[in-house]
Amino acid sequence: MNKIPSSRESDAKDWSPSSWRNFLALQQPEWPDPEAHSAALNELSSFPPLVFAGESRDLTESLASVCMGDAFLLQAGDCAESFDTSADSIRDRLRVILQMAIVLTYFTGVPVIKVGRIAGQFAKPRSSSTEIVDGIELPAFRGHIVNNIEFSAGERVPDPQRLLTAYNRASSTLNLLRAFTKGGFADISHVHQWNREFVADSPSGQRYEALADEIERAVKFMEACGITSETLAELRQVDFFTSHEALLLDYEEALTREDSLTGEWYDCSAHMLWIGERTRQIDGAHVEFLRGVKNPIGCKIGPTATPEEVLEICEALNPERKPGRLTLIVRMGAGKIVDQLPPILRAIKESGHPVVWVCDPMHANTFTAENGRKTRHFEDVLAEVSGFFAVHRSEGTHPGGVHLELTGDNVTECLGGGSEVVDSDLDERYETMCDPRLNGSQSIDLAFRVAELLRNGQA
Ligand code: PEP
Ligand code: CO
Repeated sequence: MNKIPSSRESDAKDWSPSSWRNFLALQQPEWPDPEAHSAALNELSSFPPLVFAGESRDLTESLASVCMGDAFLLQAGDCAESFDTSADSIRDRLRVILQMAIVLTYFTGVPVIKVGRIAGQFAKPRSSSTEIVDGIELPAFRGHIVNNIEFSAGERVPDPQRLLTAYNRASSTLNLLRAFTKGGFADISHVHQWNREFVADSPSGQRYEALADEIERAVKFMEACGITSETLAELRQVDFFTSHEALLLDYEEALTREDSLTGEWYDCSAHMLWIGERTRQIDGAHVEFLRGVKNPIGCKIGPTATPEEVLEICEALNPERKPGRLTLIVRMGAGKIVDQLPPILRAIKESGHPVVWVCDPMHANTFTAENGRKTRHFEDVLAEVSGFFAVHRSEGTHPGGVHLELTGDNVTECLGGGSEVVDSDLDERYETMCDPRLNGSQSIDLAFRVAELLRNGQA
């Protein structure tokens, strides 16, 4: 199905939403019924866009200020969203992200740009295309947009109807997020309420409570001066953007639309899209697709990336060198970042490419606990962030933000942190469909620790 390209340069002007089809696309499911698959894609291309191109442009501008060191990016959410996510769970994930943003803003004094891994994070790349359990081999689970996690032959068959359900779930999640962030839930005067019934009794919750007291005093002071959330929309509403890995290219193509204001192409499935570590080949279909859409885009950079490769990625994805267009999400591992990242930072700095540098301290710090659960240790996550900040400080570049997998639910998937999850707790509430996520209390704890690193000039 996929042809190997002759050369990306010769194709430079020939981008279209479907030009990726001339390139090798890794990690695409094998849909058993091609007709049903095409029908679903046709239907998808007739659906309204989920986001407006102007919103993506606003995010690019905000990311440009991150690039200059004038703002900080908090990109966070689920590893793999489920079609069964409840409204409460969506609200709680948003709430934790808002709480973290409050902590980071308070300590750093710079705006925090909030981008969720949410409202579309349904597709997962896999290291193996099949899974074997008790001698039975079935297609791997590729996220709810493709098949079901249940280990049975029927549930693992890729079902194109799921593409449509993914759109509908993304749409209703986004609608709820817009309602919460613009309709009063995110009002700054609710800093205390966000904490109630949740982490108030944990050490990080108590620490947050003390900070919320201070913010409340500041809000009262402003009210006394006549500035209230009634008079100032910024106190009542927050800007919250959506993002996911652009993995299933035919889904992304179907939601790619020409902006009527500018005539440019935007992938309207989310404000920001990123390319995963497994699909960032310079001559691959994912780079081809994303180079042509005008959204702000990201690319994961793992421990095997060379400075030459990263430079090629910058040239391909941001040839116009527009600040805020390209975010590189570094995920090298706590033990590797300090050695591997500096030559890359130097090469990119020398080239003059503007890059939003972000640390994903999750994906290269995963290990299997004794009981067989995939997990991550809070201290490794913190160590990678700390190494990331230290390297930027010594190279004279800006550490722009963090990219995290978390949930507001009270899960026991990652070890350590404020709530002191230990090995034997992992089975208690291990609910993730893919990678282990920080729970609410661990997330708030991490926000405080990251804020301290930033404030103490370690960044
Ligand atoms: C992810 O972000 O869930 C993921 C699969 O990461 P990576 O591409 O860095 O492995
Ligand atoms: Co993940």
